This record gives sequence, C-alpha cells and structure tokens, in this order.
Amino acid sequence: TNCILIGAPVDCGKRRRGCLMGPDAYRVANITRALTDLGHSVTDRGNLTPRATAPIDGLPPQTHLAEEVAGWTATLIEAAETAMADGLPIFLGGDHALSLGSVAGVANHAAAEGRPQFVLWLDAHSDFHTPQSSGSGNLHGTPLGYVTGREGFAGFPEVRNPVPQDNICILGLRSVDAAERDALQGSDIRYIDMRAIDERGIARPLKDFLAHVEAQGGALHVSLDVDFLDPSFAPAVGTTVPGGATMREAHLAMEMICDSGLMTSLDLVELNPFLDERGRTAQVMVDLAASALGRRVFDRPTRAFT
Ligand code: ARG
Ligand code: MN
Ligand code: MN
Ligand code: MN
Repeated sequence: TNCILIGAPVDCGKRRRGCLMGPDAYRVANITRALTDLGHSVTDRGNLTPRATAPIDGLPPQTHLAEEVAGWTATLIEAAETAMADGLPIFLGGDHALSLGSVAGVANHAAAEGRPQFVLWLDAHSDFHTPQSSGSGNLHGTPLGYVTGREGFAGFPEVRNPVPQDNICILGLRSVDAAERDALQGSDIRYIDMRAIDERGIARPLKDFLAHVEAQGGALHVSLDVDFLDPSFAPAVGTTVPGGATMREAHLAMEMICDSGLMTSLDLVELNPFLDERGRTAQVMVDLAASALGRRVFDRPTRAFT
C-alpha cells in the first residue's frame, strides 16, 4: 500500500488547545518507520494549513471558531480527494473537527468511482451534533452530523456526497448528549456501545459490519479518536471518558480491519501531546495504525491443538 501521511494540525474544534502538536508527535513516534517496516511505501505530505474563510453569520453565538473550522474543511476535502487518487491517506490530527473535511473528501472520491462510502467511527462520543444542537459549541462534536448532510452548517462547504446513515457504524460509545441520542435513535446509523462490547465482545459486532461493507463493495474510512481507548493507557486527550476499549480490544479491532482488506482511508484524531506521558499515547496510536496496516505476531494466531 502507498500510505500518504497528511498532517492536519486542527485545533479549533474545541476550547482546550494542544491537538495542533499531534502530527509532529506521530512523526516523533516514527509512524513512517512503523509502516515501512510492514513493506508499505510512505509519503509524508507535511502539514496542511486552513484556507481563509469570510466571517460566517447564521450560526449560534456559542459556536467556537467556525470560520477556522470551515477553512480547514475546505482544505481537507481537497487534500482527501487528491490523496485518494494516489493511495491510502492517513490524516494525522488534529482534533476530530478534521473529519468534517476528510470524510466529505473521501466520499467525493468514492462517488466518482461509483462506490458506496462507509465509515467506522471509533469513539466514546457520537459526534453527531449540528451547530444548533451542540451545547458546547465545539465543532469537533459535529463531523458525523456534517457528513451525513444534516442542516445547519451555514458557511461551510456544501456536502456534495452525504454519507448514508446506514453506512456508518459507531463503536465504543459511552458519552452521548441527549440531543445526539434522540437524533441517533431517529436515524439509521449503526452503533455498538460499551455495554454491547462488554456483553458480546468487540469482534462479533465489528465482523458483522465489515461483512456488510464487503457485501456492498464499499470503501471504508476508519476514524480513530484517542478517547475510544481507555484513558488508563491513552491519557493524552482532552475528553477522557473512563471505561473505554482496552489495548487488546483496540488491537483486535485494527487487526480485523486489516484482515478485511476494506480500509481505504484513516483518521488519527484528538491526540493532545500536551497531556501525554512520555509520548505513550502517541506510541499507542502509531501501534494501532500499524495493526490496521498489517502488523501481527504470526500470520496464524495459534499452532496448537487445532
Ligand atoms: N458531545 C460533546 C460536545 O459536543 C463532546 C464531543 C467530543 N467530541 C470529540 N471529538 N472528542 O461537546
Ligand atoms: Mn480509489
Ligand atoms: Mn470524536
Ligand atoms: Mn471522542
């Protein structure tokens, strides 16, 4: 695979700053080496900068830095379309507001190829707000609202190819605002919350979704938010929620994604290196990306009594 690293130091999607250091933390944790060791070619396109955007009227007053997020969205849509023609883009965030652009852009590429776009959202949160439903005004809570074509994103690029709700699966949920819960329950978005993972394990529901993507011949975008993971081993995130995926569950999910052969693009988002402990969260994210792209202990997990 030709892996294309796209640094997107988006830090305007929420109030606590620090995600702008994310792309460099992944580079210091040597994401390039992790991927070339697996036999992939890696091109680092450096860091993007957001397009300038005129002042936006028509958003609620608590909306935080809407013009900057809109500018990033325009830049990222274009970067995603370009990179999809050349290989498998890995968006190095930056906060989750980067996915307004990365997902909208990859969906444009899929539409041009006549392929359905699917999204696997690995996150404690559903990020399904609109600017109007958001209590915080933080636009990192809105990317799934935007890419599914919900109304209310005045001043943002038009979503030319909304992702069908039915093509989205959120895995790891444990913090959902009331307005999002109501909207999700009235939608066709699939979700697997932490209780479901506790009861059924992570493998079975994920396998079902991957089989569905495969049956539809879809392109699969994977969006990995640091807070999908339990904060005990991934502390470098502003929105920690206890009770997240374990290291084992997260690696298994990534290995299954790799085995499916379906992943066409990847976001690594919400890493805040200012909150990290000796780089351990950056390293965990790099290791998970490596698992999603083929790192494993053995080709067959056992050779024992079978
Ligand atoms: N739902 C909350 C909000 O809208 C939290 C969103 C957290 N999103 C994230 N990408 N970490 O503010
Ligand atoms: Mn393609
Ligand atoms: Mn998120
Ligand atoms: Mn989150």
